[in-house]
Amino acid sequence: MRKKILLFCDPGIDDSLAIMYAMLDPELDIVGIVTGYGNITREQATKNAAYLVQLAGRDDIPIIPGASNPVQQEEVFFYPEIHGEEGIGPIRPPEDMTYETAPFDTIRMLMEKYKDELIIVSTGRQTTLATVFILFPEEIKFVQSFFVMGGAFFVPGNITALAEANFFGDPTSSNYVLTFAENLTVTPLNVTRYAVITPDVVEEIAQSKKNVYSYLIAPIFKYYYRFYKDKTPGIKGAPIHDLLTVMLVKNPDLVDYIYYDANVAEGIETRGLSYIDVRPSSPKGDTKIAINLHYQKFMEEFKKVMVRVE
Ligand code: RIB
Ligand code: CA
Repeated sequence: MRKKILLFCDPGIDDSLAIMYAMLDPELDIVGIVTGYGNITREQATKNAAYLVQLAGRDDIPIIPGASNPVQQEEVFFYPEIHGEEGIGPIRPPEDMTYETAPFDTIRMLMEKYKDELIIVSTGRQTTLATVFILFPEEIKFVQSFFVMGGAFFVPGNITALAEANFFGDPTSSNYVLTFAENLTVTPLNVTRYAVITPDVVEEIAQSKKNVYSYLIAPIFKYYYRFYKDKTPGIKGAPIHDLLTVMLVKNPDLVDYIYYDANVAEGIETRGLSYIDVRPSSPKGDTKIAINLHYQKFMEEFKKVMVRVE
């Protein structure tokens, strides 16, 4: 049976690639996309998600606007240097594009409808998902499992020396989700930083006849890779953090795991720092934290879905 995914995201280049992958994988079924602030504004994230589903002729997928700010009630900063002014690098949805959005209550209805078949994947700030826990505490118990992109455990952050961007963006909501999500897998920078796609693979996808997104891939990648090349001299490709998170739904063995309860620091100086208690006598936990990526396997799976010739 196809795996039913409700995706919370902020597309964003790597979120967009995650959407494309999930739309193209015949074993995955996106039943809704919840959009929030993060890489870009909520409004732009909503438009980008609508554009990507329209390109695949899947306007039936509800696009549900979520949070526009973190709970900290502060000014939000965006990242055009990484994701472009409008979130998908140089690609802009047409000015005159029309689309409909679905009300927030659609999330409750989807949880009611799919019950323990539903898998929630969250690849942006955790504000909206935390809100769903607060608003729909009974329905969210039905959800089969959660996959969250965030954190950097004992490795450098990407937005500060200590913190990864999603957890830094709203550490309070991140803690909420880490505490209340059952059957939770976290994909931190420990693995996503290595989930790089390289120019040769992008070229193969660009030539792929049956991938409806193939013509977008090269310009998006070029934009994104330029940023990473500047930041990390010698890097062979660009890390597609959110893509790996979606891929784990179907391919859990692309990574190895440790099992701990994870926390996020909320204080000013350490804001967004993710940590676990690894002292020998400390209790472990139930959260699956991905720590080691099997790159060859990852790349094979990625190409299997994205390079379509027939
Ligand atoms: O740290 C990586 C995360 O931050 C990804 O979700 C990416 O889209 C950015 O927002
Ligand atoms: Ca994201």
